[in-house]
Amino acid sequence: MKKTLFLLLLPLFFFSCNHKADKEQEISIIPQPVNLKKISGSFNTDSLNVIFMGVDQAALFNVAMHCKTMFEPVLGHKIEIVKGTGKSGQMVLDIDPDLGSEAYLLTVNNNLISIIGGDAAGVFWGIQTLKQLLPPDFEKGIRMDAFDIPCIAIEDEPRFVYRGMHLDVCRHFFAVEDVKSYIDLLVLHKFNIFHWHLTDDQGWRIEIKKYPLLTEIGAYRDETVIGRNSGEYDSKPYGGYYTQEEIKDIVAYAEDRFITIIPEIEMPGHSLAALAAYPELGCTGGPYSVATKWGVFDDVFCPGNEETFEFLENVIDEICLLFPNSPYIHIGGDESPKTRWLQCEKCKNRIENEGLADTHELQSYFIKRMADYIKSKGKSIIGWDEILEGGLANNATVMSWRGEEGGIAAAKMGHDVIMCPNEVCYFDHYQSKDTENEPLAFGGFTDCEKIYSWSPIPSDLNENQASRILGGQANLWTEYILDLDHIEYMVLPRMAALSEVLWSQPDKLNYDIFVKKLQNLTKYYDARGYNYAKN
Ligand code: ACM
Ligand code: ZN
Repeated sequence: MKKTLFLLLLPLFFFSCNHKADKEQEISIIPQPVNLKKISGSFNTDSLNVIFMGVDQAALFNVAMHCKTMFEPVLGHKIEIVKGTGKSGQMVLDIDPDLGSEAYLLTVNNNLISIIGGDAAGVFWGIQTLKQLLPPDFEKGIRMDAFDIPCIAIEDEPRFVYRGMHLDVCRHFFAVEDVKSYIDLLVLHKFNIFHWHLTDDQGWRIEIKKYPLLTEIGAYRDETVIGRNSGEYDSKPYGGYYTQEEIKDIVAYAEDRFITIIPEIEMPGHSLAALAAYPELGCTGGPYSVATKWGVFDDVFCPGNEETFEFLENVIDEICLLFPNSPYIHIGGDESPKTRWLQCEKCKNRIENEGLADTHELQSYFIKRMADYIKSKGKSIIGWDEILEGGLANNATVMSWRGEEGGIAAAKMGHDVIMCPNEVCYFDHYQSKDTENEPLAFGGFTDCEKIYSWSPIPSDLNENQASRILGGQANLWTEYILDLDHIEYMVLPRMAALSEVLWSQPDKLNYDIFVKKLQNLTKYYDARGYNYAKN
């Protein structure tokens, strides 16, 4: 962050702000910025009708368009976007690469709103901060009288480069509009990664042109177990998938909001839906059916069969084209039983021919082979921490979910790590101890306070190892979550707590202040009509 510019500009704001208009408004921003200086006075939106762009860049134009479309319906007049450095009563957006990626300076004085980002993403995050300075009713997007924005000088940048939210669309399927709404939640809380869990035992949810049966067969199950594997079923066929056009639409929607989507294609386990469509890829040859209950299943891809790799490589080819801007493909790797491999002649031959010690090394062979292929496509893999089993693939990033141990081991081996230990980051867990009065959840207990007091960097890592922790992520598995309303309930306001852990500097974290600020943030949730947990 370039401090000199900020310090140089600061006296100007003190000088130019309108003291009479100062309403001594409390400033409440989540996630907490690096530096926030309240200045007396305010900017009135009455005359705001131009957004200036200091640099003429296509990327910044998109951001300016966001601003224009957010202000126009509320202010009830047209806003022009023009190149220039700003003029009294208006707003200016600019880029100063010295600030660094995703960083921004937001300054409001009585005659100008200025957002300078290290890049277009920084400007975009600055706009999200600005929105929290506007009246909550602004969120409704309907005509309001002109209003005052408090004068302020904010200097901000994220602590972690990876701030992720995951969504499982396999256990239950969510429509394109719901996924976009989920992305909007990420934007509000300054998350920059959407980890999209697209394939699992209970459904394959992405169209692959070369393998139409993946969605014709694999996207549908005959029925669904009631509750937590009660043994009773609902007798209702269930399913759905995203066409490639829909995937492209969502990827563009996310990209437009500076969110990278990392697709997850599960292998070798959690693959029953794929095997139901192409049974020759399993050790026994099937028949298989798309799972109708929850859990871990013995039937997984057969690594003894060359066709398995041919199939997965072809799938990855299409995935790479659909997600061109993701540096990563998540290949799952978790919860893959070795039961079938131990019995399978092809698997036994593979172990012998490759000089592998056992089925754990066979799992590692599988992941390494796919990692190499994905590398040849210019991307690298992320896998759940089970990919440490039998030896980690070069350049693999480990997503540590069974606690922090996997992440610690990987960081010590010099691998990148994303932390999402289940006891803190699994938002399918209960958020209240009064579980009787909560919707059915996986179990566990994770409230905002627990999340807020968590550090993504374990204390036993030295500085060099700690630098391998790219950030953290919350995971939302949807066995018991059927609609967007329930998604919102599970992630709000826990996302707000996690957003401060991942964005804000540790010395700025204060749970009591966070709770006060949350009361303000929930006004914005209300204005957007979100269904959030109130306990
Ligand atoms: C996982 O929760 N099985 C990654
Ligand atoms: Zn096999």
